[in-house]
Amino acid sequence: MIMERVLTLVLLCVLSAWANIPDVEKVSVIGRTETELTFQWKVENSSYSYKLATNVIGDIPINASEAEYLNYTVSPLSPGTNYSFTLYTVFENYTSKGFYFSNVTTPSNVNSVSVIDRKENQITLQWSKVNNSNDYGYELYWNEENSSIPISQTNTVEYNVTSLDAGTEYFFTLYTVFGHVMSSGYSFTNVTMPSNVQDVNVKLNDTEMILQWDVVSNTNNNTYTYTLENKDELTVNCTNQTAEGNEVTCHISDLTPATNYSFTLYTEFADLRSTGFNFYNITTLSDITEVTVNRSQTELTISWNKLNNNDIYNYTLKSQGEGSEKNFTGSAVGDVITHTYSSLTPGTEHSFTLFTVVNKAFSRGFSFKNVTTLYCTSFNWTVTNSSIEAKVNGSTYVKAQNSTGSVKNGTVNQNSLTLQGLYPGGSYNVSLFYYLESELLPQCTHHLTLDPYSVSHLRCEYHSGGYGLAVIWDTPYGVVDRVQVDVDRKSFNKSYSSEKQIRLEINGLQAAKKYTVTATSFSGSRRSQTVSVNCETDPAGVIAGVLVFFLLVIIICVAVFAWRRYGSAKRNKMTNPLVEPKVPNKNYKPLPLNKFPEHYQNMSRDENRGFSEEYETTPLECISPQKMRVILIISMLITCLATAMQADSILLLKVHCHPLSMISGEWFGRKDHRPSSC
Ligand SMILES: *[C@@H]1O[C@H](CO)[C@@H](O)[C@H](O)[C@H]1NC(C)=O
Ligand SMILES: *[C@@H]1O[C@H](CO)[C@@H](O)[C@H](O)[C@H]1NC(C)=O
Ligand SMILES: *[C@@H]1O[C@H](CO)[C@@H](O)[C@H](O)[C@H]1NC(C)=O
Ligand SMILES: *[C@@H]1O[C@H](CO)[C@@H](O)[C@H](O)[C@H]1NC(C)=O
Ligand SMILES: *[C@@H]1O[C@H](CO)[C@@H](O)[C@H](O)[C@H]1NC(C)=O
Ligand SMILES: *[C@@H]1O[C@H](CO)[C@@H](O)[C@H](O)[C@H]1NC(C)=O
Ligand SMILES: *[C@@H]1O[C@H](CO)[C@@H](O)[C@H](O)[C@H]1NC(C)=O
Ligand SMILES: *[C@@H]1O[C@H](CO)[C@@H](O)[C@H](O)[C@H]1NC(C)=O
Ligand SMILES: *[C@@H]1O[C@H](CO)[C@@H](O)[C@H](O)[C@H]1NC(C)=O
Ligand SMILES: *[C@@H]1O[C@H](CO)[C@@H](O)[C@H](O)[C@H]1NC(C)=O
Ligand SMILES: *[C@@H]1O[C@H](CO)[C@@H](O)[C@H](O)[C@H]1NC(C)=O
Ligand SMILES: *[C@@H]1O[C@H](CO)[C@@H](O)[C@H](O)[C@H]1NC(C)=O
Repeated sequence: MIMERVLTLVLLCVLSAWANIPDVEKVSVIGRTETELTFQWKVENSSYSYKLATNVIGDIPINASEAEYLNYTVSPLSPGTNYSFTLYTVFENYTSKGFYFSNVTTPSNVNSVSVIDRKENQITLQWSKVNNSNDYGYELYWNEENSSIPISQTNTVEYNVTSLDAGTEYFFTLYTVFGHVMSSGYSFTNVTMPSNVQDVNVKLNDTEMILQWDVVSNTNNNTYTYTLENKDELTVNCTNQTAEGNEVTCHISDLTPATNYSFTLYTEFADLRSTGFNFYNITTLSDITEVTVNRSQTELTISWNKLNNNDIYNYTLKSQGEGSEKNFTGSAVGDVITHTYSSLTPGTEHSFTLFTVVNKAFSRGFSFKNVTTLYCTSFNWTVTNSSIEAKVNGSTYVKAQNSTGSVKNGTVNQNSLTLQGLYPGGSYNVSLFYYLESELLPQCTHHLTLDPYSVSHLRCEYHSGGYGLAVIWDTPYGVVDRVQVDVDRKSFNKSYSSEKQIRLEINGLQAAKKYTVTATSFSGSRRSQTVSVNCETDPAGVIAGVLVFFLLVIIICVAVFAWRRYGSAKRNKMTNPLVEPKVPNKNYKPLPLNKFPEHYQNMSRDENRGFSEEYETTPLECISPQKMRVILIISMLITCLATAMQADSILLLKVHCHPLSMISGEWFGRKDHRPSSC
């Protein structure tokens, strides 16, 4: 120990003799803050102490240290300042030459950074210079990037951070740089502006809108919110905003029809909203699409249901013909709105347009037409047995339906109505229609009965021994309720019968008399044309009577003749033979009965010349007994016939006295003689 001290003293004596103490080789800055600098240097000899000379604080004595390295902290210093030092090594009264070095304290951070502008891909920052000094530089770090900010000459620094993503939060750190030393760093966050939606899809009607848009995409999958604003400050409420997948739907209701709604749709992120997507849409104004029209001859009543059952709509009903318009306030009427146009002309067409009106905006209008109905009885109907015609107005189509349901179509051409090919005597319901916009509107219905056909083949037959007639006719085609036969100012009715041939027997007429027989067919109150025929009652009875009369005359004549002849012969003792005929009777041959008709015809030729001649050649006063016999036979025959006729048997007459009736017919000038019958 003593030895060591002695050696050191010896060395020091030597060194001091040389007067040469070494400086530290190097001073390192091992710690730096804004107000402190910590140095470290290597200790060469534990006997050495040190003296640090500074320009701001003065000399600082530093005690000797046993350690290999000596740390020393200088404070308080000013931030961001360059300090110069000289470190002396001290031994006894000797000092080294001094080691000079300088270094800087840490600069201060900026006080604050203002975000003065935020765009979709740029944020503008602004801050005041630290210490208002131009000595400092600034460096900005964000996410994985950084940037040195150029030194500006003004008091504030403004910097645009560019190439950012929209709607993203960024974490920034701003460092103050002095020399190579950076401040601790000023950190802050802020966001870029989100983008607008690309497009809004709008579905709308009168009172509702459904808006739909895709969410705004971004690299960080941030969730944005959306705000819809209405520029006109009308109460628009996106009450039902739903996001499903990448779509957002907003349902707006209770809008006013025919109104322009302007919207701005904002995307919102943090405290920032997008510039706004502007659009507008106009709610529609619907038309009434269905009206009911009640029609009569002079009135049209129009009614419709309130549109969408909503009171907001007003209505204007215009009638083109009248040129009039009528307003209806939706809130002041019931669910069904009705209006009647009256005092119209029957069968006239009327056009209407119904508008819905909201705030003086008119819908396109629903147009419709209608036509007043008709009084069918006002037309002059011409009815024949197969057709119906009339001059009509207010009808374009006609059809007729009969009681069996069969329908006949007619035509209406320029107001002339024609129905043809109808069933004679048929009863028809004639219906008039008006063809309006592919709809057949019934106008009126009229009941008409057609004229029946006249009876055909009207003819008579003898009946009731001449005191009546059988009137016969063929049933005509068509409907005939009854046939009225008029004879001798008396009417007889024959009601409908399905037989083909009708026979009506009429009694109480006079025999052998001409009658005009007329027949008229009826269907309901309609009558056919009257047909007539001249008939004659059977004259046979009269002939018989006349013949009987003649017979009686002849018998009386013969009796008188015989009485006178035989009476005088008795008186002449009956000696004379029978008086010979003055005229030779070779001309008179006996005639067989079956030859009589032929003979009769011969004799009646040439205006009965044969008879005339025969008569003239017949001697008046004398008839031979032979002739008498012939006359008697004829008389008896006639009597027989007359009896038969009295028995009212035409058939008998036909069989027994065909030739005789012919004679009698000729003799009594019968004209409507028919060969086929008696
Ligand atoms: C300050 O000290 C550091 C660390 O020892 C050194 O790197 C730097 O060069 C020094 N600065 C100056 C200005 O000498
Ligand atoms: C000096 O500083 C260094 C590094 O900071 C440290 O390791 C060492 O222990 C310090 N020495 C003393 C004596 O404090
Ligand atoms: C050092 O200086 C002091 C006074 O300044 C003096 O008293 C002393 O004797 C000196 N020592 C040496 C060894 O010279
Ligand atoms: C972003 O900057 C604005 C404007 O300077 C500011 O109002 C807002 O608070 C900042 N946002 C954050 C998260 O600091
Ligand atoms: C930042 O950008 C805006 C335009 O976005 C420009 O007007 C302004 O001058 C820029 N500022 C700087 C410091 O470059
Ligand atoms: C509008 O549309 C909505 C949904 O499509 C429907 O519920 C509503 O009845 C409609 N309103 C009108 C007035 O048509
Ligand atoms: C965003 O979402 C997509 C799909 O879900 C995914 O592939 C992508 O990695 C996400 N991006 C970030 C930054 O999370
Ligand atoms: C929007 O609707 C909601 C819910 O119906 C209601 O609470 C809110 O007051 C409405 N906002 C406006 C502005 O009408
Ligand atoms: C919201 O709208 C959706 C469809 O757009 C519908 O299914 C749902 O019922 C609505 N909700 C409300 C509360 O209106
Ligand atoms: C809504 O308005 C936009 C223009 O603003 C137009 O392109 C779009 O067709 C409108 N949509 C409807 C349904 O009217
Ligand atoms: C009906 O309303 C319209 C406006 O909506 C008006 O111009 C017109 O004069 C009104 N007509 C009548 C008859 O009141
Ligand atoms: C409907 O008409 C009434 C009376 O003229 C009027 O007061 C009201 O504003 C109208 N309504 C609309 C939606 O135009």
